[in-house]
Amino acid sequence: MTRPFLDSFGRAVTYLRVSVTDRCDMRCLYCMAEDMTFLPKPEILSYAELERICGAFIHSGVRRIRVTGGEPLVRRDVMSFFSAMGEWLRRPDDGPRLDELTLTTNGSRLGEFAAPLHAAGVRRVNVSMDSLDPARFAAITRRGNLHKTLDGVRAAREAGLKIRINTVAMAGLNDDEFDDMVAWCGQIGADLCLIETMPMGETGDDRLNRYIPLDRVRADLARRWTLEPLTYRTGGPARYVRVAETGQKIGFITPMSHNFCESCNRVRLSCTGQLYSCLGHEGASDLRGPLRAGMDEAGLLRLVQEAIGRKPRGHDFMLDRAADDPARISRHMSVTGG
Ligand code: GTP
Ligand code: 5AD
Ligand code: SF4
Repeated sequence: MTRPFLDSFGRAVTYLRVSVTDRCDMRCLYCMAEDMTFLPKPEILSYAELERICGAFIHSGVRRIRVTGGEPLVRRDVMSFFSAMGEWLRRPDDGPRLDELTLTTNGSRLGEFAAPLHAAGVRRVNVSMDSLDPARFAAITRRGNLHKTLDGVRAAREAGLKIRINTVAMAGLNDDEFDDMVAWCGQIGADLCLIETMPMGETGDDRLNRYIPLDRVRADLARRWTLEPLTYRTGGPARYVRVAETGQKIGFITPMSHNFCESCNRVRLSCTGQLYSCLGHEGASDLRGPLRAGMDEAGLLRLVQEAIGRKPRGHDFMLDRAADDPARISRHMSVTGG
């Protein structure tokens, strides 16, 4: 088995998040600004380039890849990338391979892609959905259509994909809906994951005022549902409970109230080949330049491992920062897909 590469704090990096595009057909309030300028195509890594970089990570011990965006399913011919990555799932256990290939999506195109994704080896998808009310969903996503996302969720179930609904908790926007979400997820056999909103990039919305600590939400849910703590993990930062009444799980992602950086196992690759070793830091290592200058596999492997070695201890989203403080994260969430 390939031994995972350790960062300087002794954390094994086994999980890579790969953003395949910065584009999206929605403009969620907490993620993007209303008028985004997207990158010109030559800046974006080709699938061949992405596959080479992912290969270097897999040879460095990465066992799970999550494809993100923007919205990954809006990139042309994205299935060719999933198919190529899916090959790694079928490699023998004793060498470089993937244990899991997943994606995070807004669901709008799952109707078309759910079956091919399953055929490529994907077994689990995380679908972002912050409201069950069509008007609210439209207001939060600015461009989304709830019915399209619901159709996508239905197609994913029919294709046999395990579904987790990701819901960013926002005061005054969806904080009266969590009970309904728990009940609905119970009905459709999906898990739910509640997420604290993180202040990344200017989006035209005040995320710190929208922020709700999830401890409060959990205590509130516990009045109506029997929540049984679980040790179950999905490799990501969520901590789960089981809802006895529905049999489904609820995850809580709490970067703001309970930082989970000491157990972080992941790094992120942007669609322009920047390797971000922490969501909450601006610093990145450029892989595209050396790759396009003709670097060979050994050089790429060295570069990837050096970048992992520089992974910082953690984020400090909660520090009160002035708008011009260079430590503020100006990068939009859509650059690295969370
Ligand atoms: P699983 O593999 O299902 O556990 O997925 P995940 O929770 O790792 O991924 P997903 O794309 O569904 O992300 C859910 C939320 O978690 C998003 O808001 C991400 O920004 C956030 N998130 C994921 N990884 C990290 C991390 O390392 N640090 C922080 N602060 N947030 C993260
Ligand atoms: N804070 C928390 N979560 C966010 N996401 C996007 N932007 C933010 C933010 N500012 C979530 C999306 C999606 C996942 C990839 O990240 O809802 O589920
Ligand atoms: Fe698109 Fe997801 Fe960002 Fe919403 S959160 S704008 S669906 S990338």
